[in-house]
Amino acid sequence: MSQSSKISMQRKHRRRRVTLLLLGMALLTGFGIWIGMMIAGITQTEMPAEEGLPAMADIPDVSPVDADIAPPPDDNADTAPEGITPQIQPPAGPGAADLWSLILVNKANPIPGGYLPDLENITGDIMVDARIFDPLLRMVNAAKADGITLTIISGFRTYEQQVGIFERRKQFLIETEGLTEALAEASTALYIAFPGESEHHTGLAVDITTPVYTELDEGFEDTHAFAWLSVNAKDYGFVIRYPKDKTAITGIEYEPWHYRYVGTDAAHFISSNNLCLEEYLDFLQNGWPVDADGDDGGDEDDGDNS
Ligand code: DAL
Ligand code: ZN
Repeated sequence: MSQSSKISMQRKHRRRRVTLLLLGMALLTGFGIWIGMMIAGITQTEMPAEEGLPAMADIPDVSPVDADIAPPPDDNADTAPEGITPQIQPPAGPGAADLWSLILVNKANPIPGGYLPDLENITGDIMVDARIFDPLLRMVNAAKADGITLTIISGFRTYEQQVGIFERRKQFLIETEGLTEALAEASTALYIAFPGESEHHTGLAVDITTPVYTELDEGFEDTHAFAWLSVNAKDYGFVIRYPKDKTAITGIEYEPWHYRYVGTDAAHFISSNNLCLEEYLDFLQNGWPVDADGDDGGDEDDGDNS
């Protein structure tokens, strides 16, 4: 083989080696980027802009999982089998039920005359009782750090605002469903409290959606936001105010989006024992209800293992 043929062969081999090397590096780089994206959770759908809370702006949106439908939360996760969860005790002593955070507003207990807490603006024109500003903000920021965006869409409402909300819904039902005024009013009242009977008047209740799931309906319980709240809301003092199985007591249909601040002790106790606020307040004043056979629902060992 001539010297020039040898040189040409060597160049060809070198070019092939370089090509193979570059190909290998490209494959490795691509694989590395894919792994990185999987870890950072950025392969998911991009979310629309949100109404952010003031202190949330600098928290990176690492995992916008709201776009996905979450697996159903474990119904039993926060539910003790029966009675008191031993390690969690409710606030004790006379007057415990009179705490500002345990104020009860419902059909039978309209907002007390003159009740108007100090308000603090949380986002846009939405305000809450200033005493729950910090826990609410901490909850929203904790969710954000876990990749969950909670959007607060309603907080404190005046009597007049509640009149507007109630009347708009009633008129909508009359016009679109052809209901009589009486039926439209009854149907509206299943989900919207009569003015003066809404705990939104206290500034202690918030309605929460996500930037992706904006409906106020039962579908909210299929979101990651709801799954997160089901596990974590109690740590910030919030509970679902109108649970699914408590309509007969609360007078309001299931609202997975409506959260009420009650304080962390009460929230843990209420969640762990699957109570609604009415039941909790009754428990504080009267203890556990007595069964037909004379047992109460508490955890005292009364020797009856049936
Ligand atoms: N949606 C709740 C019941 C309210 O209107 O206060
Ligand atoms: Zn609400």
